[in-house]
Amino acid sequence: MNSITKIIKEHFACVDSTNNRAALQAEKLKEGELLLITADQQTAGRGRFGHYWLSPNKMNFYGTFCFLFDNKRMDAGNLPQILAISAMDALEKKNVSVQLKWPNDLLVNGQKIGGILTEAKATQRPGWIYVIAGVGLNINMPIELIKTIDRPATSLMIEIGKSSEIEIIGENLQQIFIQDLNLFITSGISPFLNKYKEKMFHQLGEKICFHTAGKILEGEFQGINEAGLLKLQLPDGTRSEFSYGEIF
Ligand code: BTN
Repeated sequence: MNSITKIIKEHFACVDSTNNRAALQAEKLKEGELLLITADQQTAGRGRFGHYWLSPNKMNFYGTFCFLFDNKRMDAGNLPQILAISAMDALEKKNVSVQLKWPNDLLVNGQKIGGILTEAKATQRPGWIYVIAGVGLNINMPIELIKTIDRPATSLMIEIGKSSEIEIIGENLQQIFIQDLNLFITSGISPFLNKYKEKMFHQLGEKICFHTAGKILEGEFQGINEAGLLKLQLPDGTRSEFSYGEIF
Protein backbone atom coordinates (compact mmCIF):
# COMPACT_ATOMS: atom_id res chain seq x y z
CA MET A 1 0.00 0.00 0.00
CA ASN A 2 1.24 3.51 -0.86
CA SER A 3 2.17 6.26 1.56
CA ILE A 4 -0.02 9.26 2.29
CA THR A 5 0.99 12.10 -0.03
CA LYS A 6 -2.03 14.41 -0.02
CA ILE A 7 -3.91 15.95 2.88
CA ILE A 8 -7.39 17.44 2.63
CA LYS A 9 -8.46 19.56 5.62
CA GLU A 10 -11.90 20.80 6.58
CA HIS A 11 -12.74 22.80 9.67
CA PHE A 12 -16.26 23.29 11.04
CA ALA A 13 -17.58 25.64 13.73
CA CYS A 14 -19.92 22.94 15.04
CA VAL A 15 -20.59 19.29 14.19
CA ASP A 16 -22.28 16.41 16.01
CA SER A 17 -19.03 14.42 15.93
CA THR A 18 -15.98 14.82 13.69
CA ASN A 19 -15.98 11.00 13.29
CA ASN A 20 -19.56 11.13 11.93
CA ARG A 21 -18.66 13.98 9.60
CA ALA A 22 -15.57 12.14 8.30
CA ALA A 23 -17.64 8.99 7.67
CA LEU A 24 -20.00 11.00 5.44
CA GLN A 25 -17.08 12.14 3.28
CA ALA A 26 -15.02 8.95 3.31
CA GLU A 27 -16.25 7.52 0.01
CA LYS A 28 -14.73 10.45 -1.93
CA LEU A 29 -11.17 9.64 -0.78
CA LYS A 30 -8.57 8.02 -3.02
CA GLU A 31 -5.55 5.91 -2.08
CA GLY A 32 -2.75 8.09 -0.68
CA GLU A 33 -5.12 10.83 0.50
CA LEU A 34 -5.83 11.71 4.10
CA LEU A 35 -8.83 13.73 5.20
CA LEU A 36 -8.62 15.70 8.45
CA ILE A 37 -11.90 17.01 9.84
CA THR A 38 -11.66 19.39 12.81
CA ALA A 39 -14.29 21.35 14.71
CA ASP A 40 -14.50 24.05 17.37
CA GLN A 41 -17.32 22.19 19.07
CA GLN A 42 -19.10 18.82 19.01
CA THR A 43 -22.69 18.42 20.12
CA ALA A 44 -22.49 14.61 20.33
CA GLY A 45 -18.80 13.82 20.80
CA ARG A 46 -18.31 10.08 21.20
CA GLY A 47 -15.79 8.16 23.27
CA ARG A 48 -14.97 4.45 23.43
CA PHE A 49 -17.50 1.98 24.82
CA GLY A 50 -20.40 4.38 24.20
CA HIS A 51 -19.05 7.11 26.50
CA TYR A 52 -19.90 10.73 25.81
CA TRP A 53 -16.93 13.03 24.99
CA LEU A 54 -17.30 16.50 26.49
CA SER A 55 -16.66 18.95 23.63
CA PRO A 56 -17.27 22.60 24.59
CA ASN A 57 -16.76 25.38 22.06
CA LYS A 58 -13.18 26.51 21.26
CA MET A 59 -11.61 24.89 24.34
CA ASN A 60 -10.13 21.65 23.07
CA PHE A 61 -8.89 19.85 19.97
CA TYR A 62 -11.47 17.64 18.24
CA GLY A 63 -10.24 16.05 15.02
CA THR A 64 -10.68 12.96 12.86
CA PHE A 65 -8.26 11.49 10.34
CA CYS A 66 -9.78 9.37 7.57
CA PHE A 67 -7.92 7.29 4.96
CA LEU A 68 -8.05 4.10 2.94
CA PHE A 69 -6.24 1.11 4.40
CA ASP A 70 -5.40 -2.24 2.82
CA ASN A 71 -7.98 -4.74 4.10
CA LYS A 72 -5.52 -7.63 3.83
CA ARG A 73 -3.23 -6.17 6.48
CA MET A 74 -3.72 -7.84 9.84
CA ASP A 75 -2.37 -4.90 11.84
CA ALA A 76 -5.08 -2.25 11.28
CA GLY A 77 -5.91 -2.72 14.98
CA ASN A 78 -2.63 -0.97 15.85
CA LEU A 79 -3.67 2.31 14.19
CA PRO A 80 -5.24 3.73 17.39
CA GLN A 81 -1.95 3.08 19.21
CA ILE A 82 -0.03 4.88 16.46
CA LEU A 83 -2.36 7.89 16.68
CA ALA A 84 -2.03 7.88 20.48
CA ILE A 85 1.78 8.05 20.13
CA SER A 86 1.46 10.94 17.63
CA ALA A 87 -0.93 12.81 19.93
CA MET A 88 1.40 12.22 22.90
CA ASP A 89 4.33 13.69 20.92
CA ALA A 90 2.22 16.71 19.88
CA LEU A 91 1.25 17.38 23.52
CA GLU A 92 4.78 16.87 24.80
CA LYS A 93 5.94 19.78 22.63
CA LYS A 94 4.13 21.84 25.29
CA ASN A 95 6.39 20.58 28.10
CA VAL A 96 4.07 18.11 29.68
CA SER A 97 4.87 14.46 30.29
CA VAL A 98 2.22 12.13 28.85
CA GLN A 99 1.72 8.43 29.53
CA LEU A 100 -0.24 5.87 27.54
CA LYS A 101 -2.87 3.68 29.12
CA TRP A 102 -3.33 0.61 26.94
CA PRO A 103 -4.45 0.74 24.23
CA ASN A 104 -4.81 4.43 23.41
CA ASP A 105 -5.67 6.69 26.35
CA LEU A 106 -3.42 9.69 27.00
CA LEU A 107 -2.81 10.46 30.67
CA VAL A 108 -0.98 13.16 32.59
CA ASN A 109 -0.34 12.40 36.25
CA GLY A 110 -2.78 9.49 35.96
CA GLN A 111 -5.61 11.65 34.66
CA LYS A 112 -7.02 11.51 31.17
CA ILE A 113 -6.01 14.37 28.87
CA GLY A 114 -6.93 12.75 25.55
CA GLY A 115 -8.46 9.74 23.85
CA ILE A 116 -8.80 8.06 20.49
CA LEU A 117 -11.90 6.59 18.89
CA THR A 118 -11.14 4.56 15.78
CA GLU A 119 -13.78 3.09 13.54
CA ALA A 120 -13.56 1.15 10.28
CA LYS A 121 -15.98 1.35 7.40
CA ALA A 122 -16.44 -0.96 4.41
CA THR A 123 -15.95 0.66 1.00
CA GLN A 124 -17.15 0.25 -2.59
CA ARG A 125 -13.48 -0.31 -3.51
CA PRO A 126 -12.41 -3.94 -3.36
CA GLY A 127 -9.35 -4.51 -1.18
CA TRP A 128 -9.78 -1.43 1.03
CA ILE A 129 -11.44 -0.28 4.23
CA TYR A 130 -11.78 3.27 5.48
CA VAL A 131 -10.20 4.05 8.80
CA ILE A 132 -11.87 6.85 10.74
CA ALA A 133 -9.56 7.80 13.60
CA GLY A 134 -10.81 10.51 15.94
CA VAL A 135 -8.74 12.22 18.60
CA GLY A 136 -9.88 14.49 21.40
CA LEU A 137 -7.33 16.46 23.44
CA ASN A 138 -8.32 18.55 26.44
CA ILE A 139 -6.39 21.77 25.88
CA ASN A 140 -7.87 24.84 27.58
CA MET A 141 -10.74 23.28 29.52
CA PRO A 142 -10.97 24.84 33.01
CA ILE A 143 -11.14 22.79 36.20
CA GLU A 144 -14.88 23.51 36.71
CA LEU A 145 -15.73 21.74 33.44
CA ILE A 146 -13.17 18.97 33.95
CA LYS A 147 -14.87 18.15 37.26
CA THR A 148 -18.12 17.38 35.41
CA ILE A 149 -16.42 14.40 33.67
CA ASP A 150 -17.30 11.11 35.38
CA ARG A 151 -13.68 9.88 35.54
CA PRO A 152 -10.32 11.41 36.51
CA ALA A 153 -9.47 13.93 33.79
CA THR A 154 -7.28 16.95 33.21
CA SER A 155 -6.42 19.52 30.54
CA LEU A 156 -3.15 20.92 29.23
CA MET A 157 -4.02 24.30 30.78
CA ILE A 158 -4.47 22.74 34.21
CA GLU A 159 -1.13 20.94 33.88
CA ILE A 160 1.06 23.77 32.56
CA GLY A 161 -0.81 26.71 34.11
CA LYS A 162 -1.46 28.61 30.87
CA SER A 163 -3.63 28.35 27.79
CA SER A 164 -2.33 27.12 24.40
CA GLU A 165 -3.24 27.70 20.76
CA ILE A 166 -5.42 24.79 19.70
CA GLU A 167 -4.63 25.33 15.99
CA ILE A 168 -0.87 24.99 16.58
CA ILE A 169 -1.32 21.74 18.51
CA GLY A 170 -3.58 20.49 15.68
CA GLU A 171 -1.02 21.46 13.05
CA ASN A 172 1.78 19.67 14.94
CA LEU A 173 -0.39 16.60 15.43
CA GLN A 174 -1.23 16.47 11.74
CA GLN A 175 2.45 16.60 10.72
CA ILE A 176 3.54 14.04 13.31
CA PHE A 177 0.69 11.65 12.45
CA ILE A 178 1.38 11.71 8.69
CA GLN A 179 5.02 10.82 9.40
CA ASP A 180 4.05 8.09 11.87
CA LEU A 181 1.33 6.69 9.60
CA ASN A 182 3.72 6.48 6.65
CA LEU A 183 6.28 4.66 8.80
CA PHE A 184 3.53 2.30 10.01
CA ILE A 185 2.43 1.67 6.40
CA THR A 186 5.96 0.61 5.40
CA SER A 187 7.19 -1.05 8.61
CA GLY A 188 4.24 -1.92 10.88
CA ILE A 189 4.23 -1.36 14.64
CA SER A 190 7.77 -2.57 15.40
CA PRO A 191 9.52 0.86 15.09
CA PHE A 192 7.03 2.23 17.67
CA LEU A 193 7.17 -0.53 20.27
CA ASN A 194 10.05 0.77 22.38
CA LYS A 195 8.55 4.22 22.73
CA TYR A 196 5.13 2.76 23.53
CA LYS A 197 6.61 0.48 26.21
CA GLU A 198 8.61 3.33 27.78
CA LYS A 199 5.52 5.50 28.03
CA MET A 200 3.09 2.92 29.44
CA PHE A 201 1.19 4.12 32.50
CA HIS A 202 0.85 0.70 34.12
CA GLN A 203 3.92 -0.93 35.57
CA LEU A 204 4.91 -4.51 34.75
CA GLY A 205 3.49 -6.79 37.45
CA GLU A 206 0.89 -4.23 38.55
CA LYS A 207 -2.51 -5.66 39.51
CA ILE A 208 -5.17 -4.46 37.09
CA CYS A 209 -8.87 -4.89 36.51
CA PHE A 210 -9.60 -5.47 32.83
CA HIS A 211 -12.93 -5.35 31.04
CA THR A 212 -13.18 -7.28 27.77
CA ALA A 213 -16.01 -8.94 25.82
CA GLY A 214 -18.50 -8.54 28.67
CA LYS A 215 -16.12 -10.06 31.24
CA ILE A 216 -14.21 -8.44 34.08
CA LEU A 217 -10.80 -10.00 34.66
CA GLU A 218 -8.32 -9.32 37.42
CA GLY A 219 -4.69 -10.06 36.87
CA GLU A 220 -1.12 -8.82 36.58
CA PHE A 221 -0.21 -6.41 33.79
CA GLN A 222 2.61 -7.95 31.75
CA GLY A 223 3.05 -5.20 29.18
CA ILE A 224 2.43 -5.63 25.47
CA ASN A 225 3.63 -8.21 22.96
CA GLU A 226 5.30 -7.58 19.60
CA ALA A 227 1.89 -7.01 18.00
CA GLY A 228 0.88 -4.40 20.61
CA LEU A 229 -1.57 -6.75 22.36
CA LEU A 230 -2.06 -6.52 26.13
CA LYS A 231 -0.49 -9.36 28.12
CA LEU A 232 -2.27 -10.34 31.32
CA GLN A 233 -1.35 -12.99 33.87
CA LEU A 234 -4.47 -14.39 35.51
CA PRO A 235 -4.59 -15.47 39.18
CA ASP A 236 -4.28 -19.16 38.18
CA GLY A 237 -0.92 -18.35 36.52
CA THR A 238 -2.14 -18.62 32.92
CA ARG A 239 -1.23 -15.84 30.50
CA SER A 240 -3.59 -14.34 27.96
CA GLU A 241 -3.24 -11.70 25.27
CA PHE A 242 -5.97 -9.26 24.33
CA SER A 243 -6.54 -7.00 21.35
CA TYR A 244 -9.57 -5.22 22.79
CA GLY A 245 -10.75 -4.00 26.17
CA GLU A 246 -10.38 -1.37 28.84
CA ILE A 247 -8.26 -1.26 31.99
CA PHE A 248 -10.13 0.25 34.93
C1 BTN B 1 -12.13 7.87 24.37
O1 BTN B 1 -13.16 7.40 24.87
O2 BTN B 1 -11.09 7.93 25.02
C2 BTN B 1 -12.10 8.34 22.96
C3 BTN B 1 -12.46 9.79 22.83
C4 BTN B 1 -12.42 10.28 21.40
C5 BTN B 1 -12.96 11.68 21.27
C6 BTN B 1 -12.72 12.23 19.90
S1 BTN B 1 -13.09 13.95 19.78
C7 BTN B 1 -12.95 13.87 18.05
C8 BTN B 1 -13.61 12.58 17.61
N1 BTN B 1 -15.04 12.76 17.46
C9 BTN B 1 -15.74 12.04 18.32
O3 BTN B 1 -16.98 12.03 18.41
N2 BTN B 1 -14.90 11.35 19.12
C10 BTN B 1 -13.53 11.57 18.77
